Amino acid sequence: MRDTVTPLAAAIHLEHVSKVFGKAGTDSAYRAVDGLDLDVRPGQMLALLGKTGCGKSTIFNMIAGLTEPSSGTVRVSGRDPFREFDSFRGKMAIVFQSDRLLPWRTAIQNVELGLEMLEVPAAERREKAQLWLTKLGLGGHENDYPHALSGGMRQRVSIARAFATNANILLCDEPFSALDESTAGRLRAEFVRLVKENGKTAVFITHSISEALEIGDRIVVLKRPAKIAYDVSFDADTGREERELIRSRIGGVLAE
Ligand SMILES: Nc1ncnc2c1ncn2[C@@H]1O[C@H](COP(=O)(O)OP(=O)(O)OP(=O)(O)O)[C@@H](O)[C@H]1O
Ligand SMILES: [Mg+2]
Repeated sequence: MRDTVTPLAAAIHLEHVSKVFGKAGTDSAYRAVDGLDLDVRPGQMLALLGKTGCGKSTIFNMIAGLTEPSSGTVRVSGRDPFREFDSFRGKMAIVFQSDRLLPWRTAIQNVELGLEMLEVPAAERREKAQLWLTKLGLGGHENDYPHALSGGMRQRVSIARAFATNANILLCDEPFSALDESTAGRLRAEFVRLVKENGKTAVFITHSISEALEIGDRIVVLKRPAKIAYDVSFDADTGREERELIRSRIGGVLAE
């Protein structure tokens, strides 16, 4: 089942998007994304799933405005994220695969970073950062430096930083893949709850079928070169049996 939504109503809109690395028409040219059409509606949690090298991060970088598409249209809330990069400050938050905390700043100072860029006054910044650290179970660790925190704690600081800016679009590129399964599972559940509670739109990249099923209310499976091979939406009413069917379909698509 393919989601259809008008471009203007979509939080994220990709139309005939291609990305070619290297010089087009030469032997070194590599088409990482090929004519991709994808719309994400506001409030949706999309899990983007695919094998290594299929183009997930390339798509992610185009949505985040870090990479320009070779052709096609990318719109986030109706705007071009690459050409209007500055207008997205505070509207889009990113959680990367590695935590990307600044080692010379404490946990709370790292969370405050995004708010500083938005020029939020100091007292309000501190209050918001404190609130999000507490929500993520890091009360008491505000003044710890990243090296003194475990990987899971550092990743929670990154999530706190992303949520504190109040951005309504969240992009996550395999944020839990470096963690042990039980920590990752806990953070996943926390993450889904926070996204839903705060009515955010999220794109979550993963190469794990189980993670996609836990995170997404929609799963898009990509096949090299970043073409949609399977697109499925489900909700809390989707029963166990149906979920297992979806799991085996995805497994089948990825094995092709
Ligand atoms: N800057 C670049 N220059 C040249 N080729 C690139 C560049 N970035 C990515 N590619 C190529 O594009 C393809 C897709 O890469 P991408 O990083 O998007 O994959 P991915 O799905 O995120 O993989 P992974 O799961 O390993 O993170 C790969 O073949 C990669 O080698
Ligand atoms: Mg990647």
